[in-house]
Amino acid sequence: MKLQLPSTPAVLLLSITSAIAQSTNLPDVPPGVFNVSARIEIEHTSLALAWDALTDFPAYPKWNPFVRSSIAVDASNVSLPTQRPIENTQLILRVQIPALPLPVNEFTPDNPLATQFSWVNLTSLPSPRQEHVTVAINNSTIAVVGGIERLGNDVIHPNRHPHHPPPLPLRHPLQHLAPRRPLPLPINHPNGATSNNRIYLLGGLIDAQNPPPMNGADWLATGKSYVYDLATDTWRELPPMPPGTERGSAVTGVYGEMIYVVGGMTYLSAAGQDAVTSVIAFNTTSEKWQRVASRAADIPSGRQHAVGGVVGSTLYVLGGRWYERTNVRDEVFSLDLLQPERGWQTSKARMPTARGESREGR
Ligand SMILES: *[C@@H]1O[C@H](CO)[C@@H](O)[C@H](O)[C@H]1NC(C)=O
Ligand SMILES: *[C@@H]1O[C@H](CO)[C@@H](O)[C@H](O)[C@H]1NC(C)=O
Ligand SMILES: *[C@@H]1O[C@H](CO)[C@@H](O)[C@H](O)[C@H]1NC(C)=O
Ligand SMILES: *[C@@H]1O[C@H](CO)[C@@H](O)[C@H](O)[C@H]1NC(C)=O
Ligand SMILES: *[C@@H]1O[C@H](CO)[C@@H](O)[C@H](O)[C@H]1NC(C)=O
Ligand SMILES: *[C@@H]1O[C@H](CO)[C@@H](O)[C@H](O)[C@H]1NC(C)=O
Repeated sequence: MKLQLPSTPAVLLLSITSAIAQSTNLPDVPPGVFNVSARIEIEHTSLALAWDALTDFPAYPKWNPFVRSSIAVDASNVSLPTQRPIENTQLILRVQIPALPLPVNEFTPDNPLATQFSWVNLTSLPSPRQEHVTVAINNSTIAVVGGIERLGNDVIHPNRHPHHPPPLPLRHPLQHLAPRRPLPLPINHPNGATSNNRIYLLGGLIDAQNPPPMNGADWLATGKSYVYDLATDTWRELPPMPPGTERGSAVTGVYGEMIYVVGGMTYLSAAGQDAVTSVIAFNTTSEKWQRVASRAADIPSGRQHAVGGVVGSTLYVLGGRWYERTNVRDEVFSLDLLQPERGWQTSKARMPTARGESREGR
């Protein structure tokens, strides 16, 4: 079965309005990496039941120490008969920041000093998608680039992804969904980055031609690269990745005029997938691909579907997968970009949970 890709994948721009009012009573955080982690395992339930509990707004006061009230309303602020997240409705939220001490029930009084209200629109992406990349344009807008979509009622490639549950509807407080100029090619697992009001699309995976050239691969790496100018809404082709370095699902990091492309994968098939170690760099001034210092040219172990980026002058790769989907890793690799000849380091600190296909945000 051949994978069907949407004919016009596009860049979508989403503006995010903070659900919290302008003034905040959040505690001050020290400058640098904002470091929090949480983990919860919900046992003896199903995805559907967990989703049902999380979207049952009238029940929130009975158990939720943070969101004390969440009322779905229409545009005139009239409470709706269905108190569930539905697109194009609004929510009036009353929250406690910091959260009330546990346990709470519907009679627990608010702490007035910790009470905040907000009013958010519920919207969602125009269609479910996965295997895309999101890049931050500025502090309020992210772009969703590439990926695969459902076509009509067809679930994408059911026999190749038997363990993928159907994507849950996205219910974020997003506004201004603005499809932009379609991508120059359908691409999934793209490597994306933003710099100077431009979105760089530096290779990714594309549909393998039929018959598939290797090992029944569905998707193969392409090095084709493009830049999208937000001001002019135009795509322009860039030099492709050097032959042999094509990959998708890489970590990207922007530092000055350089975009680093780290690890990734070159194919995905029912039989398996690989994980790349090499690091290449794109110079946005010369618009040429450049080698990196030899000790910086490979991460310690292949990674794809990892997260990372540049913080200060350090390029990080966190977690990700080594070959198969189930092979999720918890190591943190880092490279000091001021001293790349020192090479990649593996941090003594590991992630609390190994994971792949996550997303980072700062
Ligand atoms: C992140 O939090 C962990 C656990 O509290 C701590 O050990 C670590 O030093 C923190 N890292 C940074 C960069 O703040
Ligand atoms: C609904 O309530 C929000 C928050 O109080 C307010 O900003 C908005 O103007 C109200 N809308 C209408 C139509 O009253
Ligand atoms: C919410 O959506 C309404 C109707 O679509 C729109 O007029 C309004 O500007 C939006 N408000 C916010 C705060 O996004
Ligand atoms: C962020 O970028 C979007 C898209 O270019 C633009 O519409 C918006 O005005 C920008 N916002 C800020 C705060 O710069
Ligand atoms: C985003 O906001 C932070 C904090 O206000 C500011 O330092 C930074 O320059 C902003 N970034 C952009 C791209 O506007
Ligand atoms: C990027 O290219 C420009 C123009 O060729 C060059 O001057 C600059 O040194 C390059 N940057 C790096 C970090 O190699």
